[in-house]
Amino acid sequence: MKKEILNVQNLKLHYPISRGFFVKRNFIKAVDGVSFSLFVGETLGIVGESGSGKSSICRLILSLIPKTSGNIKWFGKDFNLYKKKEIKSFRKKVQIIFQDPYGSLDPRMTIGSIIKEPLGIFNKNLSKNESTERVIALMSDVGLSSDLYNRYPHEISGGQCQRVGIARALINKPSVLVCDEPVSALDLSIQAQILDLLDVLKHKYNLTLIFVSHDLSVVKAICDNVIVLKSGKIIENGITSDLFKNPKDPYTKKLISSVPSPIPAR
Ligand SMILES: Nc1ncnc2c1ncn2[C@@H]1O[C@H](COP(=O)(O)OP(=O)(O)OP(=O)(O)O)[C@@H](O)[C@H]1O
Ligand SMILES: [Mg+2]
Repeated sequence: MKKEILNVQNLKLHYPISRGFFVKRNFIKAVDGVSFSLFVGETLGIVGESGSGKSSICRLILSLIPKTSGNIKWFGKDFNLYKKKEIKSFRKKVQIIFQDPYGSLDPRMTIGSIIKEPLGIFNKNLSKNESTERVIALMSDVGLSSDLYNRYPHEISGGQCQRVGIARALINKPSVLVCDEPVSALDLSIQAQILDLLDVLKHKYNLTLIFVSHDLSVVKAICDNVIVLKSGKIIENGITSDLFKNPKDPYTKKLISSVPSPIPAR
């Protein structure tokens, strides 16, 4: 039977946009009553146009921002009931990679120290040599030459920066990786390489993935299940291949019809 890692119920994130005593308060409903589950070993896609609430959902489930209401259960336990020690272990088990490969790396740190940094937080017992060895092994797994260990982010390409971000996220051997548009800032050929890499790493590291994209062709390539989001609400969800074959909602149909065909029409 499939084991549930994450259960989200009626999750809401509303930002107040009007001020003053006499004005009726208005809200931007960034996330508006979203419910879904994530199962062990699954790659779950979250797709929707810009502003539909994809990043907000990622930040909420990682507890990086407070929710307006709803329930988030990780590893079978309500996140509100997590103790300090459990939150620390959660931070090790659930990692995120972001869209902007350059912006998410500290420009003053070398590639090696960027990847190594989270080890110091969660694995204090490792010797310096052991840590360095672990970083170099991981650099090899993500396709980075060890020659880059002492280089800085501005000296490497966007694709390589994203590989650094992935290595940093994996250094503490997490079980869940949340990828918030990890390839949308990259050229098409590099996008394909990073997607292949994520697929290889998923199996090597036994990862469960949440994969966010506005691009349905990317989601189709790697996701088992998909959630279609519009204006903070789930409008359709299901097995990726079924959803592509038989989309029910007009918005999903529109998104699918805008996916470019790999073979140009003559
Ligand atoms: N701090 C904030 N204050 C007010 N509104 C916000 C804030 N952060 C996000 N929003 C709004 O919430 C909505 C959802 O934003 P979110 O970043 O989650 O969308 P997204 O689907 O990730 O978009 P994109 O594809 O552009 O990354 C948008 O309308 C956005 O303008
Ligand atoms: Mg976003």
